[in-house]
Amino acid sequence: MQVQLTVNGKPVTIDAPPHTLLVQTLREKLRLTGTHVGCDTAQCGACTVMVNGRAIKSCNVLLAQVAGSEITTIEGLAEADGTMHPMQTAFKECHGLQCGFCTPGMVMSAVSLCKQHPGASAGEIREHLEGNLCRCTGYQNIVKAVQQGAAAMK
Ligand code: FES
Ligand code: FES
Repeated sequence: MQVQLTVNGKPVTIDAPPHTLLVQTLREKLRLTGTHVGCDTAQCGACTVMVNGRAIKSCNVLLAQVAGSEITTIEGLAEADGTMHPMQTAFKECHGLQCGFCTPGMVMSAVSLCKQHPGASAGEIREHLEGNLCRCTGYQNIVKAVQQGAAAMK
């Protein structure tokens, strides 16, 4: 099966069997290993990327389902010169991470929320992130980071 899509602004063509997952494509074919695999069963959110601007869990989506789509991974958020996205800066400044395993998924989910709902309250941020689990349990600072990132994205 051949699938064309755009990943972090670059057109790519992938040859892969029909059962290939999006997360396998990103990590194993394109070597974009910032997208993590935690549970592999659509529960932890570590594999979250954006498809056409909306956060999805890439362990739960077949490559074939996103043919022709624009995919953004954590590697595609920063500027070409390395300047971090405002949400990445906010996570750094607010200490919104500990081990960092959940962080790429948290950041992608947060960016997606802020694009759709820039004025989200702390409660709405918590609700939106309920599909992203942090095993270090640093949720307080994650919410603070999303609030700061949202303000910077406005
Ligand atoms: S690895 Fe996809 S939700 Fe956990
Ligand atoms: S920072 Fe360690 S899992 Fe979230």
